[in-house]
Amino acid sequence: MRTIEVCLGSSCFLKGAYAVLDTFVALQRQHGLEDDVRVAGAFCQEHCREGVSVAVDGTIYSVPDKDTARALFTRLFSTESTP
Ligand code: FES
Repeated sequence: MRTIEVCLGSSCFLKGAYAVLDTFVALQRQHGLEDDVRVAGAFCQEHCREGVSVAVDGTIYSVPDKDTARALFTRLFSTESTP
């Protein structure tokens, strides 16, 4: 199972972490990936100066807003992408 962990630490919280988390949960459900992708909150990931920190399978991404969350999800999890 792949994982998306959204930092809910104080810095990321102030930058909109819950909106980013909600966006990933909505996309997970929209794409029917509940059994394939785990979406969860996480403690500080030591990247507090960047946007909301999101770890996808252990790789950290800076996700400042919902649009970036959607783009990242599409890039990493779209079943329509070509091999
Ligand atoms: S509070 Fe999110 S990386 Fe530190």
